[in-house]
Amino acid sequence: MSKCVLVSGGAGYIGSHVTVELVNAGYEVVVADNMSNCDLTCYNGVCSIIGKELPLVKMDFCDISAVQKLFTEYKFDAVIHFAAFKAVGESVDEPLKYYRNNILSFTNLIEVARKKGCNILFSSSATVYGESETLPVTERTPRQQATSPYGNTKQICEDILRDSVKAYEGINGIALRYFNPVGAHPSALIGELPRGVPNNLAPFITQTAIGKRECLSIFGNDYPTEDGTCLRDYIDIVDLAKAHVCAVTRMVEGRMKDGYEVYNIGTGRPVSVLELVKTFEKVSGKPLNYKFAPRRSGDIAAIWADPSLANKELGWKAERSVEQTLAAAWAWEQHLAEK
Ligand code: UFG
Repeated sequence: MSKCVLVSGGAGYIGSHVTVELVNAGYEVVVADNMSNCDLTCYNGVCSIIGKELPLVKMDFCDISAVQKLFTEYKFDAVIHFAAFKAVGESVDEPLKYYRNNILSFTNLIEVARKKGCNILFSSSATVYGESETLPVTERTPRQQATSPYGNTKQICEDILRDSVKAYEGINGIALRYFNPVGAHPSALIGELPRGVPNNLAPFITQTAIGKRECLSIFGNDYPTEDGTCLRDYIDIVDLAKAHVCAVTRMVEGRMKDGYEVYNIGTGRPVSVLELVKTFEKVSGKPLNYKFAPRRSGDIAAIWADPSLANKELGWKAERSVEQTLAAAWAWEQHLAEK
């Protein structure tokens, strides 16, 4: 019988891509989402890609009775937890909104899941490393004091999972630390759908190219990097999604070496903002209107992953090139414009 995975926040950007890859790998999937930061576009896209309807439960993980009800209706072998707020700037302005939502939802989930022996995968972030002196960062690189409440919730939730796995029998946990997820499914039926003006670079690039934004501001060209712009590790969203399948399979097949494991999910390849822009121009054939602007507060000069632990233990490796990733992001933006 196939194993069943709950994907909380499964109607969003990362959750929808992970759902597709789980189904491709033979898992049953239940999507749960409060739909507070997305509409049905990606859920419908997922159903078109996989050729069937999936259960979609509209619920909030801050409501523990709703979580309990869900776990009595289904038997889950694992849960992947995406349901959280994710805007760094907003978290600085409204810290309690972030602490309440991101931490309460996760503690509720663990509370219920642990009693059912359900393994837990937490979606963490490279933000936990802050500005590291040594690059690339490995999982042993010390975490640093978070610079935003959002980043702090990622650290706190990692710790909650670690401590829970240690204290309670019968559950395993994995935290995946994502670098910069970008791109879209090759079908162009699912992708990133930011509300309002995008904060992140890739959607700002594609929205500028399509004419939704007038001009991309490149924040800072005086960083101590080769071309003066920041370096990041842009990880293709489909590659990222596949890492979740590897991690879930490791948990449900009982192949973990520790009850709680942490993995960097990145390419190991630093790319500058300017390089990303130039590569986009090449793959889209469209010159991009951009200008250099002052540094954005809170940005670090450079971070990229050492993904060798995930390569070895999860048997996972990023495969797609920056060109393929940006071509997919551009196809998705064009698909949205045709709708
Ligand atoms: N950038 C621009 N112009 C823009 C947007 C971004 O030049 O309009 C630059 C940024 O300055 C940065 C790079 O593009 O150098 C990447 O910026 P993103 O906002 O796309 O990504 P970040 O690396 O800032 O953010 C990521 C994750 C967050 C996480 C954060 C913490 O997306 O979830 O790292 O460091 F919190």
